[in-house]
Amino acid sequence: MNLNIGVIKGDGIGPEIVAEAMKVLDKAGEAYGFTCNYEHLLLGGASIDVHGIPLTDETVEKARACDAVLMGSIGGDANTSPWYQLEPSKRPEAGLLKIRKELNLFANLRPAVLYDELKDACPLKEEITAGGFDMMIMRELTGGLYFGERKTVEEDGVMTAYDSLTYNENEIRRIAVRAFDIARKRRKKVTSVDKANVLDSSRLWRKVVEEVAKDYPDVELAHMLVDNCAMQLVKDPKQFDVILTENMFGDILSDEASMVTGSIGMLASASLNDTKFGLYEPSGGSAPDIAGKGIANPIATILSAAMMLRFSFDQDQAADAIEAAVSKVLKDGFRTGDIMSEGCVKVGTADMGSLICERIK
Ligand code: NAD
Ligand code: IPM
Ligand code: MN
Repeated sequence: MNLNIGVIKGDGIGPEIVAEAMKVLDKAGEAYGFTCNYEHLLLGGASIDVHGIPLTDETVEKARACDAVLMGSIGGDANTSPWYQLEPSKRPEAGLLKIRKELNLFANLRPAVLYDELKDACPLKEEITAGGFDMMIMRELTGGLYFGERKTVEEDGVMTAYDSLTYNENEIRRIAVRAFDIARKRRKKVTSVDKANVLDSSRLWRKVVEEVAKDYPDVELAHMLVDNCAMQLVKDPKQFDVILTENMFGDILSDEASMVTGSIGMLASASLNDTKFGLYEPSGGSAPDIAGKGIANPIATILSAAMMLRFSFDQDQAADAIEAAVSKVLKDGFRTGDIMSEGCVKVGTADMGSLICERIK
């Protein structure tokens, strides 16, 4: 079986972490009888350097023609990179937002799991982490503040900037349905996070989520205000199963949740539409501060590749094998710098990839 995978190496640590995910995919392919055909595509800073813009129409069409896309992170250091001299619509992040919109990738799944072995890397007290935790952050990805009307104008000598936050009921319903479907296969609890005490968009969000919940009487629904959620994530992360939230809140809360799992370098993600297609990428950024040093943690990207095998290719056994290999490598005491703790063996990006490959059964 051939898997047609678009590969966007990205910027900063992107090429380093994607190389390890490809190594792992190839190893899983040998073990489970599939071949990955990779088509390399440009997005973000790497595309600006070649084409002057962060995403070409050709890349969108090529990505669409693939069965799934694996991506490293994009972007650079806003203070030093020449990409940030360009107008906002031509910067790396604009390409990422455009591809999400063009491919209708409205459902962003970010699984935050505390591996038993990583408890030492988690900054929370042991009594909070005991028993571990496993939550799925469902972030709406193609609406809200990210895609609202934006402008900066001068009015009476005063500069004013506008960013508008818009959601319609259809956009809310489709992500809510996806969250309830996923919760049904997990611990059957959805916590919908909003700011309904202030925002109209959140009040509509809450109303639509409640309507959707009527079709899922077996799934418990709780509403939580976003500020409280940020606090509860560190006070008692075990209470969460599926967190359903809008684009901007999901961006912020998922970085917070990643740290509760030990490191942003552990947080995978899948961006999905209504088909089997998906774009799979680590939730963290291009980490310009450590790029090129061979020390970035590739595990989030490797786990994103496992999500790709599961969702886009129905290769559940291979996905399970990759996840088990990650677990084993941590159990065996190997760590990249970001998750390092006493008594463990510190390894670089490529070694971590190879150690995971060796453990794929
Ligand atoms: P970042 O996530 O890149 O880095 C934050 C911190 O986490 C840094 O100290 C970094 O070294 C560390 N880190 C991140 N990933 C790591 C990994 N795999 N292993 C070890 N350490 C890791 O966030 P930032 O510095 O705010 O953003 C840098 C650039 O990345 C910006 O241009 C931003 O726009 C972009 N970005 C892209 C994506 C994406 O492509 N999906 C996501 C977030 C940020
Ligand atoms: C993420 C990133 C992006 C976002 C940026 C790079 C536009 O932070 O995927 O979490 O905010 O969605
Ligand atoms: Mn983010």
